[in-house]
Amino acid sequence: MSQTVSTSPKDRVLIFDTTLRDGEQCPGATMTFEEKLEVAELLDNIGVDIIEAGFPIASDGDFEAVSEIARRVKRATVAGLARAAFKDIDRCGEAVKHAHRARIHTFISTSPLHMKFKLQKSPEQVLEMIAATVTRARNWVEDVEWSAEDGTRTEHDYLCRCVETAIRAGATTINIPDTVGYAVPEEYEALFKMVRNRVPNADKAVFSVHCHNDLGLAVANSLAGVKGGARQIECTINGIGERAGNAALEEIVMAMRVRGDVLPFESEIVTPMLTRASKLVAAVTNFPVQYNKAIVGKNAFAHESGIHQDGMLKNAQTYEIMTPESVGVTKTSLVMGKHSGRAAFRAKLKDLGYELGDNALEDAFNRFKDLADRKKHVYDEDIEALVDEEIVNSQDRIKVVALTVIAGTMGPQSATLTLDIGGSHQTTQATGNGPVDAIFNAIHKLVPHEAVLELFQVHAVTEGTDAQAEVSVRLTADGKSVTGKGADPDTLVASARAYLSSLNKLMMKRGKTKPDQQIPA
Ligand code: KIV
Ligand code: ZN
Repeated sequence: MSQTVSTSPKDRVLIFDTTLRDGEQCPGATMTFEEKLEVAELLDNIGVDIIEAGFPIASDGDFEAVSEIARRVKRATVAGLARAAFKDIDRCGEAVKHAHRARIHTFISTSPLHMKFKLQKSPEQVLEMIAATVTRARNWVEDVEWSAEDGTRTEHDYLCRCVETAIRAGATTINIPDTVGYAVPEEYEALFKMVRNRVPNADKAVFSVHCHNDLGLAVANSLAGVKGGARQIECTINGIGERAGNAALEEIVMAMRVRGDVLPFESEIVTPMLTRASKLVAAVTNFPVQYNKAIVGKNAFAHESGIHQDGMLKNAQTYEIMTPESVGVTKTSLVMGKHSGRAAFRAKLKDLGYELGDNALEDAFNRFKDLADRKKHVYDEDIEALVDEEIVNSQDRIKVVALTVIAGTMGPQSATLTLDIGGSHQTTQATGNGPVDAIFNAIHKLVPHEAVLELFQVHAVTEGTDAQAEVSVRLTADGKSVTGKGADPDTLVASARAYLSSLNKLMMKRGKTKPDQQIPA
């Protein structure tokens, strides 16, 4: 195993990030090709050991994203997921083959329930499939991970036979996932101890934890698995993932760092980049981070009660077990307004954890100036909303050029909308049951599509009647759902932007996933 280089008395634990695979799999969290590249680059820079970049057989878009990430990532191992089928493994092998370090991650269910109802295979058949598919994967790469899906509900004797078979066939990492988030920490720790004690060739592989959060125990279980001997943790930024999500990378890393006294394990994650990673993933997936989320929530370092504030002023350690700076939260005194220039704006973005390329910076700066002209106080939250939207929507092929709405008690409400569609301006007018409906109808007229609106949500970014509205729109088509965001002091403009953001994403997803390859039908 290439990455184990520890000189400290603590044991090195590999961080396997699956934000782009298990995280992206959850409804609405779909990312575009460009967004996936951006997230992968950040994961590489933050010190993740293995980036699971996607599921290459799932779609051409997934295949291309995994291939491109494999080509670009400089440091981390790039893994792709494959079911226990030769066509999956070959597609995955093709996708990761250009990586500087490539891994194939193949899995099959091993619990009685899954084997009987999902796979309709006998335990003996599954064992044969494990041997055949791991061998096939080893023909492509040296680094093969095998996972026992629903491992925590698998009979122990059988699990040991599966693990032994996978290692004999050449698996170098063995993952025992808590696929349905059913385990409790003591049990999960004991499971790893049991397997490592009983499987004769266990010392030939690194063991891995992969926990889902259905009972809110994903992080606790992951750490317990490490106490049981696992040395790889599978997790996602902000804990996004199927159903209640996966174990949150930032929580695991900081738990090991802050409680090294009882968790003598370490990762190579650059923790001051955690806030930035959280913001990027929240922005591109449009999955907001709950305010009280550990480590990266807005309130994680806020002290409201008088007693706490008093303690903090005397000594921050009274109520803070880690410094905000250690996870990338910096206290900033830079107040922004309409007289602020580019340099101040760039410095503010840096404080807030953003790093934009020159073009994106210029666009964000122009929008900031517009906002500062219209709004007396420009708060950090305003800038965050604006930049998040810029990151997500910068590749959009369809954009709002102009919008006029007639609303009020004297219906029908109507919208006159001009869109830039792949460089050409097109205008239409539509009525609706309310102004938002009229706008969405106008978009429909200019960009005919089958997508169904699943969610329309508005929230005020700050306080006051001149606050920006941040609108989220979720659309579904062909079983794929995506969420788009728009922010503007005018709620109706924000609504139009959010709808288009979602539509643009859907079209990229449906087309070739590269932003310049599709124009709507
Ligand atoms: O939760 C799970 O079991 C998985 C496997 C594919 C590793 O995501
Ligand atoms: Zn999973």
